[in-house]
Amino acid sequence: MSDLSNKHIVLGLSGGIACYKAAELCRSLIKAGASVQVVMTEAAAQFITPVTLQALSNRPVYVSQWDGREPNNMAHINLSRNADAIVVAPASADFMAKLLHGRTDDLLSLMCLARPMERVPLVLAPAMNREMWQHPATQRNVTQLRADGAHVLDVGQGEQACGETGDGRMLEPEEILEDLVAFFQPKALQGQHVLVTAGPTFEAIDPVRGITNLSSGKMGFAIARAAREAGAEVTLVAGPVHQATPRGVRRVDVRSALDMQAAVTQYVDQATVFVATAAVADWRLASVATQKIKKYGSGQLPQMQFTENPDILASVAKSERAQNGALFCVGFAAESHDLLAHATAKRARKGVPLLVGNIGPATFGLDDNALLLVDAQGSQELPHASKLSLARQLVAEIARRRS
Ligand code: C5P
Repeated sequence: MSDLSNKHIVLGLSGGIACYKAAELCRSLIKAGASVQVVMTEAAAQFITPVTLQALSNRPVYVSQWDGREPNNMAHINLSRNADAIVVAPASADFMAKLLHGRTDDLLSLMCLARPMERVPLVLAPAMNREMWQHPATQRNVTQLRADGAHVLDVGQGEQACGETGDGRMLEPEEILEDLVAFFQPKALQGQHVLVTAGPTFEAIDPVRGITNLSSGKMGFAIARAAREAGAEVTLVAGPVHQATPRGVRRVDVRSALDMQAAVTQYVDQATVFVATAAVADWRLASVATQKIKKYGSGQLPQMQFTENPDILASVAKSERAQNGALFCVGFAAESHDLLAHATAKRARKGVPLLVGNIGPATFGLDDNALLLVDAQGSQELPHASKLSLARQLVAEIARRRS
């Protein structure tokens, strides 16, 4: 299932240089499974032609409220009634000012005002010069538009087409897409603070070498994203991995198990849910060489002494807040066989209410997985699916147990 399948999006463009990015956004929405109806202001049509958007959306583009193609001549009604959302990207300073006052002198603003508010949400992706964005008038308008029920996305930061640098760029199309996908997810964890560990740890041998494992961090990152989509505040403590940070998630990068434990200790007091997906190294070197261990062709092998790493999950699960139910702990178990028996035993050993088992070698580094949820009542399979889809199902299960 694509993230936006069965969704019909009215994509509105108001005038601004970011219109060129709206073409990419249109394409991304369609690739994500949505159908897209484009509506442009005349100013937008100065920046990019309706022909481009028509070709990308595979539908005629509307610019004018006087467009005679609609038999009843009411494009603003006809095009908005079956929309799952109206997304205005870019939303210019002028267009937002107009929306604020309920003005309707072009088709797009007319449609925004005429939409059935209770079932057609309005999402705005602002785009403008940094001075325009910072201006009290724009900030006042954004605050009021939010109060009026519009969902105003963040702006990007960086170099602007005008040559200046600052806040006000439109988000990149893939960022808007991620925010929109999140917007449609049920807000089952609203008000919760979820702390997630993900990825491997790296235990140093000397300044250039170390011991690590093949965990990609994908499952943990998917859980962080799904929890954020569900409305939670999310802190993600990540070992060394090459994964993009999910939008809206606070990421804390760590290297060793001891670093990970320190970061978890720092953030766990604010958390209401702790999900430990990290593949924490069981052992570390008892002492790390301060200089690179040289070979010198002597044939002599280095001597290494190991010591056990702390079990982060087990110690958090023993804390008072976990014991009295203020903090809900979820552990993971990567096994190669006898998943149910091992996961059940691990749940007891770690002292957590919910343990999620998966077959490690079948999922390491891949985008898919299958999960087995084990709790005091028994077990439940989440069949083979993408890690993001499984993460959303797991988040729903956690939310059910928290409520
Ligand atoms: O003991 P094992 O490594 O199989 O347990 C896996 C679970 O415990 C995972 O949830 C993992 O993140 C967590 N864990 C931990 N600290 C460790 C070892 C495992 O938090 N040192």
